[in-house]
Amino acid sequence: MTTEEGPILAGDSSQAATLVDIMRRRRSVRQFQSGPPVTRDTWRTIAQAARWAPTGANTQCWDLVIVDDPAVRKAVIEIFVEQSNRLFANAKGFPAVDKSYLANTLAIFIVLGDPRWKVAFPQQGDDAKGPDEYTDNNESIYFCSIGAVVQNIQLAVTAMGLTSAWLSGGGEASTNQQLADLLGYPSTFSACGTIPVGYPKKDVKLRYRRPLEQLVHWNGYASTQYRPQAMLEFYLGRLRPFLMYRGSERVEEWSDAQEKCGEWLDAFNGSGPNPSGELD
Ligand SMILES: Cc1cc2nc3c(=O)[nH]c(=O)nc-3n(C[C@H](O)[C@H](O)[C@H](O)COP(=O)(O)O)c2cc1C
Repeated sequence: MTTEEGPILAGDSSQAATLVDIMRRRRSVRQFQSGPPVTRDTWRTIAQAARWAPTGANTQCWDLVIVDDPAVRKAVIEIFVEQSNRLFANAKGFPAVDKSYLANTLAIFIVLGDPRWKVAFPQQGDDAKGPDEYTDNNESIYFCSIGAVVQNIQLAVTAMGLTSAWLSGGGEASTNQQLADLLGYPSTFSACGTIPVGYPKKDVKLRYRRPLEQLVHWNGYASTQYRPQAMLEFYLGRLRPFLMYRGSERVEEWSDAQEKCGEWLDAFNGSGPNPSGELD
C-alpha cells in the first residue's frame, strides 16, 4: 500500500503471527486415526492453496491426484508399503518408518512433476560463451517449484485442523512406475511429493529446529555459525532419528539431552556451533 508519505506495510502483525503459527504447527505426522469424513470441498480448498504456489517461469509444472476413494487409497498404500520395505533393505541406516500407518488417512494427495516444462527455464544459448550454467540449476528450479506446492498443501491441511506428512518415496523409479500404472499418469511424470492427510493419532506439536541465531546471518556469513563436518557426522551416526521424530523444538528439553548429545549439546542448542570460526 502507498500513502503520500510513501509505501507502508499493508499487512498487520497479527496476520503474520497467525501465518507463522500455522507454519510452526505444520507437522509430519506418521500416525493417523480415523475420524469424521471430510467433504471434497475441503480437498478443493487445499488444492486451491497448491494452485497458488509459485513455480519457475510460472510453468505450473505439476498436476495433483487426490485419492479419496478407499479402494484406490488401499492400492496406493500397498505401493508405499512395498516402497518402505525396499528402503529398509536398500538404504540401511536411514531411520525409515513402515508405511502401513497410511491406513487411517482420509485422502492422499500426490503431486506429479512434469519435467518437460524445464525447457521454459533459462537455457544455454548456442552462441553462449563459457560452460553451461543453466542445466543443473534448472533441476533446482523444478524441484523448488514442486516443493512450494507441497508446502502450500501441508499448510492448508494444518489450517483446516488436519495433519499430514511429506513423502518423497513416490519419486523413486520403481515406486513411480507402480503409481503411474495404478493411477494412469504418464510414467515420464514423477510422483515426487505425496501428502497423506488425516487426523493425527499422536499430536506432535513441535520438532527440533536450529536456533534462529544459528541459521540467520546478517549481511554476510558468520563462520562461527558454520556446522563443522564432525557435527554432521554426529548427526548421521547418532542424533538423526531423535531430531527427526522427537516432539520438542530444542534438544535441551530432552531429559536425556546430555547422554544423547554429549559434547555436541551446545552445538545443536546454541548460536555458534563453530567457536573457532575455522572452516573445514
Ligand atoms: C523434500 C522432503 C522430503 C521428505 N521425505 C520424507 C519421506 O519420504 N518420509 C517421511 O516420513 N518424511 C519425509 N519428509 C519429512 C521430514 O522428515 C520432516 O519434514 C522433518 O523431519 C521435520 O519434521 P516436521 O515436518 O514435523 O517439522 C520430507 C521432507 C521434505 C522437505
